[in-house]
Amino acid sequence: MEKKELNWAELGFQYRKTDYRFSASHVDGKWLEGNLVESEIIPIHEGAPALHYAQQCFEGMKAQTAPDGRVLLFRPQLNSERLNEAASRLLMPEVPHEMFMSAVEEVVRANYAWIPPFGSGASLYIRPLLIGVGENLGLRPARSFEFRVFVSPVGPYYQSAGLAVIALAVSEMDRAAPNGTGNFKVGANYAGGLLATRRAQALGADEALYLDARERRFIDEAGSANIIISMSGDRFVTPLSEAVLPSITRRSLMLLAEDKLKLKTESRPIDLRKELGEFEEIAACGTAAVLSPVGKIWFDDQWHSFYDNGESVGPVMQELYNLLVGIQKGELDDPYGWIHEISIQD
Ligand SMILES: Cc1ncc(COP(=O)(O)O)c(C=O)c1O
Repeated sequence: MEKKELNWAELGFQYRKTDYRFSASHVDGKWLEGNLVESEIIPIHEGAPALHYAQQCFEGMKAQTAPDGRVLLFRPQLNSERLNEAASRLLMPEVPHEMFMSAVEEVVRANYAWIPPFGSGASLYIRPLLIGVGENLGLRPARSFEFRVFVSPVGPYYQSAGLAVIALAVSEMDRAAPNGTGNFKVGANYAGGLLATRRAQALGADEALYLDARERRFIDEAGSANIIISMSGDRFVTPLSEAVLPSITRRSLMLLAEDKLKLKTESRPIDLRKELGEFEEIAACGTAAVLSPVGKIWFDDQWHSFYDNGESVGPVMQELYNLLVGIQKGELDDPYGWIHEISIQD
């Protein structure tokens, strides 16, 4: 099968229209059989709760090409579970796991030509979304829903290729409240962060870093990624917070840190002001960000830098990155059963 003629290595993290997407409707209390469609446009009623009240949730995954040409997903079961947790939180119908998986597989297969080849540094980003559609004016749940999955070939989330060192700026705005929706992947969490990101970028950072909304002391997460920290004494920590997204990448990296690097891992509240001095290496992690080492953080009106003055990648983050990406691309063994191969012939 032919691949598209794209300059794969030059791709940024942008939408690029591919040939097919999956669409299924939920009407009168049940899912109708979905199918592949060609149009990227969703005709939607002007009163749809997704548009007014953000009754929508989504997921983000990647398909990668292995050295032998196999097409691999990373822990898709967890994306399916997380989508359904968000759906329940927003009073939307769950997407049955089999439907989620077959939709993802069908779309990836149908867009085979768009899957970046091994070694290109790019991957196929997969965006499942569930939206409340149909007419509705009052604040109440939608009566019909659409589940859609589209894909786009993407390069690195942060500009430079490979393992880029990024900068974060602590935001004076909050991302999510305790007992709010911060731990669900719902669109409502993100619109409010656009201004925080813009302000962080005006300071020269790549992204905002949020503190907990209750005390503004503890690290929550970055705008689109969780935080992991290597500390003195072989400690490897990640913020424990009810307001952060349970990142699949972070959960995987914590296990790799413990299992392969033999670090003492811990999820606990991390007091930024008090503990900053003990940070040896820090990184943002997520499907899009992969593992992006953080060279410096803007906080209390000054930059605080980490490993090698924020100039290069430290050994712990480098090793974790190699392990994670090696497993995701099928170059390293997968002792955890994380990889799900998509059969291309079906
Ligand atoms: C706010 C936020 N935190 C963390 C993550 C990382 O989650 P995952 O590793 O499951 O992609 C994401 C999405 O990528 C996100 O949007």
